[in-house]
This record gives sequence, C-alpha cells and structure tokens, in this order.
Amino acid sequence: MALTKDEQRVLDAVPKQLLIGGTWTDGSADQMSVEDPATGETLCQIANATPEDAMKALDAAAAAQHSWKTVAPRERSDILRRAYQLMKDRADDLALLMTMEMGKSLAESKAEITYASEFLRWFSEEAVRINGRWSNEPSGAGRLLTMKQPVGPCLLITPWNFPAAMGTRKIGPAIAAGCTMIVKPASATPLTMLALGEILLEAGLPEGVLSIITSSSTGKVMQPLVQDQRLRKLSFTGSTEVGRLLMEQASQTLLKLSMELGGNAPFIVFEDADLDKAIEQAVVAKMRNMGESCVAANRFYVHSSIAEEFTSRLSDKLGALTVGRGTEDGVDVGPLIDADQQGKVAELVDDAVEKGATVRTGGSKGDGAGYFFKPTVLGDVPANARLLSEEIFGPVAPVASFDTEQEVLDAANGSEFGLVAYVFTSDFSRAIRVLEELEVGMAGLNKGLVSNPAAPFGGVKQSGFGREGGFEGIEEYLETKYIGIDL
Ligand code: SIN
Repeated sequence: MALTKDEQRVLDAVPKQLLIGGTWTDGSADQMSVEDPATGETLCQIANATPEDAMKALDAAAAAQHSWKTVAPRERSDILRRAYQLMKDRADDLALLMTMEMGKSLAESKAEITYASEFLRWFSEEAVRINGRWSNEPSGAGRLLTMKQPVGPCLLITPWNFPAAMGTRKIGPAIAAGCTMIVKPASATPLTMLALGEILLEAGLPEGVLSIITSSSTGKVMQPLVQDQRLRKLSFTGSTEVGRLLMEQASQTLLKLSMELGGNAPFIVFEDADLDKAIEQAVVAKMRNMGESCVAANRFYVHSSIAEEFTSRLSDKLGALTVGRGTEDGVDVGPLIDADQQGKVAELVDDAVEKGATVRTGGSKGDGAGYFFKPTVLGDVPANARLLSEEIFGPVAPVASFDTEQEVLDAANGSEFGLVAYVFTSDFSRAIRVLEELEVGMAGLNKGLVSNPAAPFGGVKQSGFGREGGFEGIEEYLETKYIGIDL
C-alpha cells in the first residue's frame, strides 16, 4: 500500500541510526525492518545493534555520568521543559509516526503524545525538588544528614504498546535525577523513540547522557550491559516472563530494578453502580490501545442482577466501533501489533467459547492483511476460561457474573497479577471496604483509567515492583546517602 505524502515525509525525517554518546551512527550488524501492523508491509530499515554497539553506549553513559550529575538541577529541568514543548509542537507528526509503526488510531496516538510529554513536564518540575533530610539523633548527641544522589548509568527497556509514554516515564526521572541512560525501545516500534531522541538532543541534552540502541535481538544485545558493573539501574516494562529473566541476569550485579510487568485487571460492577457510567468507562478500560495495555480491563465481574443489561449494552458499544488502519479518518480500533498477538487473542477467545462462553459481538480476526481483531464481548464466561487468568492484550471483554462482595473479591484477588482494579459502586462504605481488600498497586473508583503522570504507577505480586510517575517516580533513580555527624 502506497504511503501518503505526509506519512512518507514523517518517515523520511526520523533518524534510522543508533544514538551513541550524542552521535547518530550506523550499527555494525545488518539492518532490521520496521513493519506497519495494519498492512504487514515494511515501512523502513533501521540500524540493528550488536552487543559491541551496546557496550559503546555503556562506555558513553559511564564516561558522562560524573559531569552530568554535577549539572545544576535547574539546567536539567530546563532541558526537560524544552523537550516537553518540542513534543507538543511536533505532536501531529509524532502521532502519525506512532500510528504507522504501532497501529493505534491517530486520536489515540495524539492522546499518548500528550500523556508522554506530560511526564517530561512533571519531571522538569521534580528536578529542582530533590531533597535530603536533616534531623537530630534521638539521644540529642549528634545529627543525621541524608542526601539524594543519582543512582548512575541506567538501562531503560521500553515496550511496543506505548512507544512514547513508556519512554518518557523512564527518561524524564532519569534526566531529572542526573542519571545517564541507554534506552532500548521495542524492536516492533523503535521509530517513535528515535524521534524522541532527536527532540531531547535538540532540547540541549549533553552528549553521552542518552544513547538509543535499536536491535532485533534484545536478549543477546542487552545481557552484557546487565552484567557490567558500571550499569547501576535497570527499568523494564514488559511481560512478567521477560522480567523474571532480566532479574535473574541482574542478580549478578545487584542492579537496582524497577519492573512494570503484566496485569489482569478486574472491572467490578456492583448492583448499586451508575450503569451508564460503568458502561462508558468499560469501553475506555477495555478499548484504549485496542486492549494492548497492562492496565486494560481483562475480566468484567458484574452483579448477576445487572449482568445481562451490562453485557448487552457493552456489546452494542463495542460492536459499533470502526476497525481499520489507524491513519484513516473515522477509525476507532487499529490492528494488533503482530500475527503472534492476533493468534493468541483468537486462541483465548476459542478456548472460552469451547468452555461455554457466548459470543455477543465480534469473536474473530478482522479482514485484510493486517493483524486486526474484531472488538469482542463474551457473555457467561466460565471461571475456568483461560482469558480470566491470562493477560489478553486485545479487544476482548469477557463478562462473568457474581452475587456477593466476598465472591467477587475472591475472584479478583485469585490472580498471580496485581496491577490495577476498577470498582463501580455508589456505596461509599463498600467502595472503601473493597478497595482496601483488593491486592493491587492501583485502583480506579468509578473510573476506567487511572494512568496519570502525577500518580505512582505500578503493581504488586507478579505485576512487578517500583513506581513510575508521581513523587515516587524519581526515587527509583536516586540513592540515599546517610552521614552521621558528631557534634
Ligand atoms: C502499559 O500498558 O504498560 C502502561 C499503560 C499506561 O501507562 O497507562
């Protein structure tokens, strides 16, 4: 399929090399291709790093660390603020680029660019508020001083589902804290990160502070970095499976870790909920990013007295969405990222149907060469259906019913994951009771989206640890040094 003039212009403008120590450079290996998931066609070729290229990036990060940490906080703040402004100025082009490589609709890409740029603004404000503590020894004899210092060179591994926001959520606090960094974007969606790299250089980021390594073999290329004593921090967003593997590798160097891993969010609707609002928010919680989000509602538990009405109205809403290439006008739902993801979603739906679930809308792959899947609602989903325990990462809403508060709490907490939950009720006491009992790092009360640059994003259990965003986000990039003072 021929690209439009605008698509070609945006694609031509993006750097296709590695960013190492402030210089764009060709990788030493063959190139790798970037695909449009709406057509399956190749968009362009970019540099494909080797482990040696990655080590050069670590050399640059280690060499720049000392001078970078002594740069005034206000200067680091100003760089972030300029980058925020540049992202806003180029929002349309960045969004188009993201849609081309990732698939989500242009409206969703624009929303992500706003979300992503806000992390830069938030952390530009945090850069000048890194404080230690001065206190008395309990005996009164001495004083305790703590200071916060940058942890050191970081490796930031970002996923394909939010190619901009998951980058700025890590890069923002790393810059604010005074850490140098190597970013490894997902091989499916590297172009947005390369465009962001250019923006950060233009905003005045000194040489060596940021390197970007694109590679089709993440494990092979990242392993030597993770095992090098000069690297001090690894922040990873991705699957629990890969997170475990990285933790194992990082145990050799005792890296400081942040792990944003899988989710299995329950969306709970009690009989006293505002049903119009619950349905409206269910669409947001399920369909944002085509369901390809670790905070996507993965399982809907609806009180049996309203389950049929909820299922029927949600089916009408999802069935009315337009599926297509995200760049086209009027498209609500783009393709999934690749054939594997499309196949996995189909398998989970087939499993649920075999076990007795009913297809209320959708239920199958979409038409055309791209990796489309029709927005789907499944009713009467039995407890043993795999999609109630596995992360779907697709536009499929399985609805199961419940009768008692305890029953739904047991179901919601009966998961290895603990990232986020959504609760809909108009009974305040019940809301507090349920929110206190849910085993999650985040929850939405009467809302289906909690992500916010000013809030601490993160999970418990197999969803990982560490927090991104909010006041907590910068702590992940700081060490506390304590000094005992004898008077
Ligand atoms: C994710 O899916 O990894 C993050 C989603 C978000 O920040 O809202």
